[in-house]
Amino acid sequence: MDFEIINGSVETLKTECIVVALSADGILYPSAAAVDKASNGYLTELVNSGDISGKAGEQLLLFKVPGIQARRVLLVGLGKSDERKDRHYRKLVKGITATLKKSGITSVVFALDGCASYRDDIYRETRQLVEWVSADFYQYDETKSKKADPVKLESVQILLTEEDTELGEGALLDGVAIANGVDTARELGNLPGNICTPTYLAERAEALGEEFDELTVKILGDEEMAELGMNSLLAVGKGSAQPSRLIVMEYNGGEAGEKPHVLVGKGITFDTGGISLKPGAGMDEMKFDMCGAASVLGTMEAVAEMQLPLNVVGIIAAAENMPGSQATKPGDIVTTMSGQTVEILNTDAEGRLVLCDALTYAGRYNPETVVDIATLTGACIIALGHHATGILSNDEDLAGALLDAGDFAADRGWPLPLWDEFQEQLDSNFADIANIGGRPAGTITAACFLSRFTKEYRWAHLDIAGVAWNSGGKEKGATGRCVPMLSQYLLDLAEQVEVEDHHHAHEE
Ligand code: BES
Ligand code: MN
Ligand code: ZN
Repeated sequence: MDFEIINGSVETLKTECIVVALSADGILYPSAAAVDKASNGYLTELVNSGDISGKAGEQLLLFKVPGIQARRVLLVGLGKSDERKDRHYRKLVKGITATLKKSGITSVVFALDGCASYRDDIYRETRQLVEWVSADFYQYDETKSKKADPVKLESVQILLTEEDTELGEGALLDGVAIANGVDTARELGNLPGNICTPTYLAERAEALGEEFDELTVKILGDEEMAELGMNSLLAVGKGSAQPSRLIVMEYNGGEAGEKPHVLVGKGITFDTGGISLKPGAGMDEMKFDMCGAASVLGTMEAVAEMQLPLNVVGIIAAAENMPGSQATKPGDIVTTMSGQTVEILNTDAEGRLVLCDALTYAGRYNPETVVDIATLTGACIIALGHHATGILSNDEDLAGALLDAGDFAADRGWPLPLWDEFQEQLDSNFADIANIGGRPAGTITAACFLSRFTKEYRWAHLDIAGVAWNSGGKEKGATGRCVPMLSQYLLDLAEQVEVEDHHHAHEE
């Protein structure tokens, strides 16, 4: 699918379908008004006759509208002015892409005149359109014997005024990069556990390293990790025939020697719970327990594609949590890479066990910030449902930056407190820390566990248990979430760098 920003007059656009809009009170926005004028009031007549009123989500697909070159006009309702929130805009795009799919349309022009979103921000509105159209055409067929029909839609053009074109083109480039990252994250998430193993994730990272010059990838196997003392990470993979992997991706887009921003992803390629075995119902969904890792891979891809002027390190802690005969048992105690000992009271609380060693490893980079991303706790679904990523941090500014980034990228998070009061739930009689803190505040105590390993740097934890995939039914599948939030977070940091460079240039 090709995206392009175009200018010009609506009447002369040669396309299979032009999308124009009206508001709830029947007011035609400029592009719709232009179609109306060229067709001698065709659209006004439809409004007057009550065929469309402009309610949010309303659509009318029109053929051969007189006076214009486009084959079809898709007239869409944007509703009232307070119906332009992200959720409305997302729904609008879903509706439009459904129509495009149904009619097998191969080329479309969006002429929404910057009115579809409540924010007066052409960059944001354009980027969201690119990301969402792209996401709606994602189809999984990797493990089906009958491949999906190729996507018919080839050309997506977005009509902007000449003065908005530069902004729009920036949005398009960023949007395509983020959309590709989301695609990658969804595909990895959707692949089954017997294909998407720790070794497979490592191969995918290496392939990404081949693709981009600025990206160097290094893989640590069981032996190398043992040498580093990553016994906690290794304890998780012990019950599995699949070897564990620590995947390290270094993106060097910033100045040499500039402190990197590190992303750490939980990559449990299947979580049976281990000896603390999970119940059988719905256990297949634990193939999604590597979605944190997938979002790191997807974000690294987006960052490399956008060529951000930053140093970013992506680390993935990959293991399969199985109850084999060598498996870790409840009560076993391991010494982590940090030297702290952990009593593994529940082998199903394995995410924190792989992450703690990866977080210690991250410290070697003397990082500016570290963000870990994990499908860590069922409790997060109870706390925040399926809409918000849980954000926990030892640094208010960092938490704020992620919150803002998620808001801007329509991939939102929400903070939970990381107070010291919760820490004592992790007390153990036999080790420095227990790996579980009981039922109360399960998301917070999991983050408390991680906080024991992140004291040396600014750190935030994203619990994506509720947002990383959709369960059951037709919608079942990975969402690619936190790629937009993380990409935005890094875009914002890159912008700061650019502003600083600009200042320096002026000072000199
Ligand atoms: N991967 C799960 C968390 C999870 C469960 C995410 C369901 C999404 C849906 C994690 O490894 C886990 O099993 N966590 C336990 C922790 C508990 C044993 C302290 C949980 O949430 O029950
Ligand atoms: Mn688990
Ligand atoms: Zn898990």
